[in-house]
Amino acid sequence: MTDFRLAVVVLAAGEGTRMRSRRAKVLHPIAGLPMIAHVLATARHLEPAYVEVVVRHQRDEVSAAVREYLEDAIVVDQDEVPGTGRAVELAVQALPADFDGDVVVVSGDVPLLDAVTLGSLLEQHRAAAASATILSAVLDDATGYGRIVRDADGSVTAIVEHKDADDTVRAITEVNSGSYVFAASALRELLPRIGTANAQGEKYLTDVVALLREASAPVAAVPVSENWRVAGVNDRSQLAEQAARLNAMIVRGHQLNGVTIHDPASTWIDLTVTIGQDAEIWPNTRLAGATTIDRDATIGPDTTLVDCEIGEGAVVRRTDATLAVVEAYAEVGPFAYLRPGTVLRGGGKIGTFVETKNSVIGRGSKVPHLSYIGDAEVGEKSNIGAGTITANYDGVAKHRTTVGSHVRTGSHNVFVAPVTIGDGVYSGAGTVIRKDVPAGALAINVAPQRNVDGWVAANRPGTAAAEAAAAASAGDDAPAAE
Ligand code: UD1
Ligand code: CA
Repeated sequence: MTDFRLAVVVLAAGEGTRMRSRRAKVLHPIAGLPMIAHVLATARHLEPAYVEVVVRHQRDEVSAAVREYLEDAIVVDQDEVPGTGRAVELAVQALPADFDGDVVVVSGDVPLLDAVTLGSLLEQHRAAAASATILSAVLDDATGYGRIVRDADGSVTAIVEHKDADDTVRAITEVNSGSYVFAASALRELLPRIGTANAQGEKYLTDVVALLREASAPVAAVPVSENWRVAGVNDRSQLAEQAARLNAMIVRGHQLNGVTIHDPASTWIDLTVTIGQDAEIWPNTRLAGATTIDRDATIGPDTTLVDCEIGEGAVVRRTDATLAVVEAYAEVGPFAYLRPGTVLRGGGKIGTFVETKNSVIGRGSKVPHLSYIGDAEVGEKSNIGAGTITANYDGVAKHRTTVGSHVRTGSHNVFVAPVTIGDGVYSGAGTVIRKDVPAGALAINVAPQRNVDGWVAANRPGTAAAEAAAAASAGDDAPAAE
């Protein structure tokens, strides 16, 4: 149910310099979604009347992602006045003038902050009728963070930024995590009064705290129970750390749902992936995007599946696949490469060193070894011989190959598309099929083999081959043992 007295402001205008990236920081993905999508999902869980995202750096890219992941979010453009205080001031101005509920403020670069933590912060804020409630953290090394300053009786008096702090304040280990709840009225009244006379020349949101204290308005700071939940991502090392934490939680979730995952540390599963009961995942496996794995399937080791659909009981080993469908009890790999548009029907097989693209391999049909099958359709229960190539591209256009059911093609065939091979056809080894083959025919076009007797003795005298040949014919001449 929508909480009409709640707005969530997501700060995402900063430059994210330490990422050293051409991509905006909040668009770097973890678990398959841009960081900001995780924050927006958390915001949505609180069911606020408004979600606002403050943007400036790479505003077009960031706001496009915001629209994609939370359609009705309000994008607020920050102007040239720098600082979190200015960002929130503009966000509050963009709310309806009569909104006087609570404003939760979070950063777009804190992807693991969850709705349970924020929800309980909001509850405490409301229970205490506070003007501001800060989510804090107690750190061994507080360097760089704003410190929570408390008076003798423990009441919060100010947040002092590291760069503006003296040694006494720097000794404080309780820091501002950067997530808070404010009364909208307090922000409306106080933010316009905050200046930029500080070490960074920015309008600090955190200065609101001292002003509230002066006005004797109640301010609380509540330490978070697990520090990693509020850890921000400022560089690629922290990105990897938070991605690993989230992945560990995702893996554990699947394990508790009945999926066997042998090696959580080397198994990477996007948040968007679904896995059925009693599926089994072997090490070094990445399941990405919209991938779905049905029950009893076996995946890995050494497998990457992006946007794939794997059926019940299917087995996919040492395979790289994108936008492929593997139906129930089919078998893929080891060492297969399934490109977009591959559909392997039930009980079929795509085997070792086989590449497929835009092709349907019918029920129970097999492409077991060393083949390229592109733009093709294979019927049911057919077997494609080892080393078969669909020559689908004439240099200008792609053409289709159609193979019927119960077909047995020989090893090392080339199907020169467009070509149709009828039901029940056989083909000889090394056949280059350029013309359609009618149902039930044998296709064969290799030149007849000619053996030139004695060629080695005549043309390569004295070689080991010639000696071996001579020994072999001497053996032929020997009387057969009785
Ligand atoms: C801020 C807090 C600090 C806290 C720390 C936690 C202030 C003044 N300080 O410091 O007390 O310990 O977070 O990580 O708030 N942003 C904007 N517009 C701006 C500047 C920043 O939207 O003009 C956004 C950033 O994109 C980021 C968030 O606000 O998502 C925090 O900004 P950042 O520069 O990281 O703040 P800190 O200086 O680290
Ligand atoms: Ca930061």
